Amino acid sequence: MSFNLRNRSLLDLKGFSPRDIRFLLDLAAELKRSKYAGNEIPRLKGKNIALIFEKASTRTRCSFEVAVHDQGGHLTYLDSAGSQMGHKESLKDTARVLGRLFDGIEYRGFHQSVVEEIARFSHVPVWNGLTDEAHPTQVLADLMTMEEFGEKPLHELSFCYLGDASFNMGCSLLVGGTQMGMDVRIAAPPDLQPPVELVAQMRELALTTGARIRIETDPVKAVIGADFLYTDVWVSMGEPVDMWKQRIKQLLPYQVTTALMQATGKARTRLMHCLPAFHNLETEVGRQVHELHGLSELEVTDEVFESEASIVFTQAENRMHTIKAVLVATLA
Ligand code: CP
Ligand code: NVA
Repeated sequence: MSFNLRNRSLLDLKGFSPRDIRFLLDLAAELKRSKYAGNEIPRLKGKNIALIFEKASTRTRCSFEVAVHDQGGHLTYLDSAGSQMGHKESLKDTARVLGRLFDGIEYRGFHQSVVEEIARFSHVPVWNGLTDEAHPTQVLADLMTMEEFGEKPLHELSFCYLGDASFNMGCSLLVGGTQMGMDVRIAAPPDLQPPVELVAQMRELALTTGARIRIETDPVKAVIGADFLYTDVWVSMGEPVDMWKQRIKQLLPYQVTTALMQATGKARTRLMHCLPAFHNLETEVGRQVHELHGLSELEVTDEVFESEASIVFTQAENRMHTIKAVLVATLA
């Protein structure tokens, strides 16, 4: 390794330089190759890691667990129901206790200020496993996946994020894409666009990274020439379920359909999604939304989700390799 990120927390990609991100992506590719080759070197032996989840998770939790097991470390899983956190003990006190016991802490919850507080008081590396504002470990996996499928350096690739761009995924993709000098498009209605301060900050950063940023309301215009179309759920974890009616009305024009994929004008545009996705009626929430609003597929059609263009399961796998890179880089 040419330089190190030891003892750093990953709270938001904004706190990492393009060089830091490049280092993590290269390390993730190296770790992926060694896992496939069966010659992975365990670098987290003797390390104890706490995982705190205040919201549900499949990919993030399992990626942390597999990564830590592969690297020879130990894990403790905590959620709000099974610990004192929040009910009888403040986050600040919990952070100070966990910091005495663990070498690093993953946190998934609501406000970004909470993960920042845990980092401030625990004095060990803290990794953001998703907050309302940011999902940095997801975007590392997304950048890795774009590099694998794009067959070009990231700064020569373009993606368009469609849907609710005001929440974690839209914001973090804007940050990650800008850091890596990409052609970044966001297609969203005016009141679901990333916060203006973040856009201004990223436009400023783009002057040095070479990124091109376009925020559009017209999805068809936004996707022209895009290598990747990226979407996410229209109502995120922690948002009230009665948002669905309004969101469907606002976001149906941004649904990723075969016609929208063709509107890129590129034969090899790929579909990306952080998952979980509502593309059929095989989920409880999907069925409830169908009953109330009559739609059987939401942010992406089943046809596109199941098509050759879909690279969503490689993205999901890459969560593990990139999370492993973050753990090795900050702890080993
Ligand atoms: N993409 C993602 O973070 O998935 P989980 O909610 O399953 O962790
Ligand atoms: N925006 C989604 C992302 C899930 C990985 C949510 O916060 O629920």
